[in-house]
Amino acid sequence: MVSGTSTWKAPSIDGLPEGRLNMAHEAVDRHVNHGRGATVAMRFLSEDQPDRSLTYLDLSIQSSMFGSVLRTLGATAADVVFVLGGRRPESYIAMLGALKAGCAVAPIFTAFGPEPVRQRLSAGRGRILVATAAAYLAKVRPIRDALPDLRHIVLIGPKSEGIEDAGVYPWDSLMSEASPDFAAVPCDPQDRAFVHFTSGTTGTPKGAILPHQAVIDHEATARSVLGLREGDVYWCTADPGWVTGTAYGLIAPLTCGVTCIVDESEFDARRWAAILQDHAVSVWYTAPTALRMLMKAGPELWHHRDLSALRHVASVGEPLNPEVITWGRTHLDRVIHDTWWQTETGSIMIANGPRTAVRPGSMGQPVAGIEIALVERDEHGERVLLPDGSPSFVKEPGTQGEIAIRTPWPSMMRGYLNAPERYAACFAGGWYLSGDLARRDADGYVWFVGRGDDVIKSAGHLIGPFEVESVLMEHPAVVEAGVIGVPDPLLGESVRAFVTLGPGFEASEELRRDISAFARTRLGSAVAPRQIEVEPRLPHTQSGKIMRRLLRARALGLPEGDTSTLGATA
Ligand code: WT7
Repeated sequence: MVSGTSTWKAPSIDGLPEGRLNMAHEAVDRHVNHGRGATVAMRFLSEDQPDRSLTYLDLSIQSSMFGSVLRTLGATAADVVFVLGGRRPESYIAMLGALKAGCAVAPIFTAFGPEPVRQRLSAGRGRILVATAAAYLAKVRPIRDALPDLRHIVLIGPKSEGIEDAGVYPWDSLMSEASPDFAAVPCDPQDRAFVHFTSGTTGTPKGAILPHQAVIDHEATARSVLGLREGDVYWCTADPGWVTGTAYGLIAPLTCGVTCIVDESEFDARRWAAILQDHAVSVWYTAPTALRMLMKAGPELWHHRDLSALRHVASVGEPLNPEVITWGRTHLDRVIHDTWWQTETGSIMIANGPRTAVRPGSMGQPVAGIEIALVERDEHGERVLLPDGSPSFVKEPGTQGEIAIRTPWPSMMRGYLNAPERYAACFAGGWYLSGDLARRDADGYVWFVGRGDDVIKSAGHLIGPFEVESVLMEHPAVVEAGVIGVPDPLLGESVRAFVTLGPGFEASEELRRDISAFARTRLGSAVAPRQIEVEPRLPHTQSGKIMRRLLRARALGLPEGDTSTLGATA
């Protein structure tokens, strides 16, 4: 249905003979071939050890060695190599090595609990996993029986020696025997490079497949939107468990040949301000939640701070409040540039670039080569499609609609893993339908309105209410659960759950805490609800679905809106 094209050719991409391509070749090996091997590619910072730098040559050699390791383990293009390694050097080396070997890479966020990890590994039929020893012990070992496909686990980080489980090997012992003689596999530009899991309103997470040719858009937008150029020290604060952390924390900047900063430690306001200064960061790509936390830490952090190297600041993932922009102007003396995209779009689609005038509160304008339109929705919030299947567009400036993008573009997702219908449902009449609602002003600036679905955005990460509800319902006391996002001054939204109890269970603080602990253990801190409320009953539609919209309206004291579909038990 959506036919991609393989004929793209950007000047800063070398490609491989006969129209072939490999992302890792463009990001790493190409620079070595062009005599830039001695440039520092990545500098890793952590609280408890000295900084470690890897040059482009180091990355090239070590990723080739990991490519050899994967070959020895029997990996082929059919494999999805999972990485549960956080921001450690080995994670990035493993991802590049897997790309070189022609495997797809699926990074998993380390703050997930065993249940989200199991779902993702099962969906990708993962045979090979790279994980920190800590993540393996806490999240994978307890569920290994439920993962029959998982054959090989490569352990990284402290304590990875001495675990004697079958099929588990320490990174160092595999790498010490690996040959660096391994050239990147020439892939079809459309071949899958990354599988990034993202959450929907219903069902299990969707594994969005991004192709090798996404590197074309990564490189182009890194230059045009983030303004990257030779000699830059670039800090993308995103974790590689999310698409920003791979697309703009690894592939895009390396393809541009800059030096990337990776901070392995968790957020700390004082440390972050010091990193910007001490490492002379010139381009900084971060997220509204982090910026709000920096705001909260107080203005002293920026007194006498030398940020003279800092040329460009950009943000992504959630609405960038105008007050954050004002704060940036006052305390950093910089304008913060919003950018909009999604896992599915693979690269930045709408942005305030270095050369456009920022309108605080607006996400900016479509990037070069991208055409967007706003799709009409009817009074029930459903898309309006014309008889020929194409979308009906909003014409009037200032009128709200769903962001649609004309297909194709190089980084566009090529599918959802094992879910062709869910993939097909994202497209109509040659357009990709994003699910996000926005307005466009007369000058073409796009203003975010909200999501068109029930998916929760907390600390920049998408959380599917259905996944959380399913786990809550596995608690012996819980009969039914409804999960929504409520506004949170730091996180954007936080997860709130409403549950009903089965016969014989009485609501008590103790039980509530027990359900909360159960959810945290199963789901992990990134996904578990912050707040759980016990209710006598939940509102349903006549067809039996929980009305999350109504839960949200009630929780926030908003008008309940159209309740014509409300069932009798509400
Ligand atoms: C969703 C996509 C962006 C790549 C990493 C996250 C929300 C993204 C903005 C923005 C308001 C934004 C949207 C979008 N979002 N950027 N600048 N302003 N909302 O990718 O996890 O797939 O999330 O993030 O709702 O649909 P993702």
